[in-house]
Amino acid sequence: MAFTAFSNAGEIVEAIRTVRQARKYSGDPVSPEHLETLLQVARWTGSARNTQPWHFVVIDDPDTLRQISELRPPINWVADAPLAIALVMDGKSPDSEIYDEGRVAERLLIAARVLGLGGGVAWYGDEAQTAAGKRILGVPDELFNRGVVVIGHATSTKDTRPNANIGGRKPMSEVASHNRYGQSLS
Ligand SMILES: Cc1cc2nc3c(=O)[nH]c(=O)nc-3n(C[C@H](O)[C@H](O)[C@H](O)COP(=O)(O)O)c2cc1C
Repeated sequence: MAFTAFSNAGEIVEAIRTVRQARKYSGDPVSPEHLETLLQVARWTGSARNTQPWHFVVIDDPDTLRQISELRPPINWVADAPLAIALVMDGKSPDSEIYDEGRVAERLLIAARVLGLGGGVAWYGDEAQTAAGKRILGVPDELFNRGVVVIGHATSTKDTRPNANIGGRKPMSEVASHNRYGQSLS
C-alpha cells in the first residue's frame, strides 16, 4: 500500500514544526476524549524490538501535581497544569528505552498540539529528586521514571523562568550537511 499525503499535510507539518514547550495553562481540564486520544497515540508509539517498555501514569490530582512541581524550581509551573502523564519505563534496556521514552514524549506533545492543546516536558531533576518523584507516584524502585509530560490548554509558550533558555533555533547551515559531514547543503 502506497502512502498518500494527507489533504492538510501542510497544516500538520506546520503543527509539528511549531510544537513548543508550554509552561502556562488555563484552569480548564483536558477532556476525557482528548486524554483517551493522547493515550492511544502513546500506546501506538514504536519502540525497539516492539518491547513497548512503558507504563503511563495519568496524573490529574492537583495535590500530586503540586508535589511534583515542588521537586525543583524550574518545574514549579507543573502545579498550575490540569494534567501530566508520567512516562515509566521498564528499566531493562536503558540504551533503547532512552530513545523510546523520547519518541513517546514527542508524540504526546505533537498530538496535543494537533488537538489544540499545549504540553511540556518536566524532569524531576537529580538522583535524589528523581527518587522523590518516583515516591510521589508510587513507582517501584526497579522501574525508570524521570519526569512527566504536562498537557493542558496552553495560554503561553513564553519561558518566564528566571534562568530562561534562549529561544529560537540554530541556523540550518549549522545543523545539516549534504552527503558528507560539514559539507554545505547548497
Ligand atoms: C529532555 C527534556 C527535558 C526538559 N526538561 C524541562 C524541565 O524540566 N523544565 C522545563 O521548563 N522545560 C524542560 N524542557 C523544555 C526545554 O527547555 C524546551 O523544549 C527548549 O528550551 C526549547 O523550547 P521550545 O520547545 O519552547 O522552543 C525539557 C525538554 C526536553 C527535551
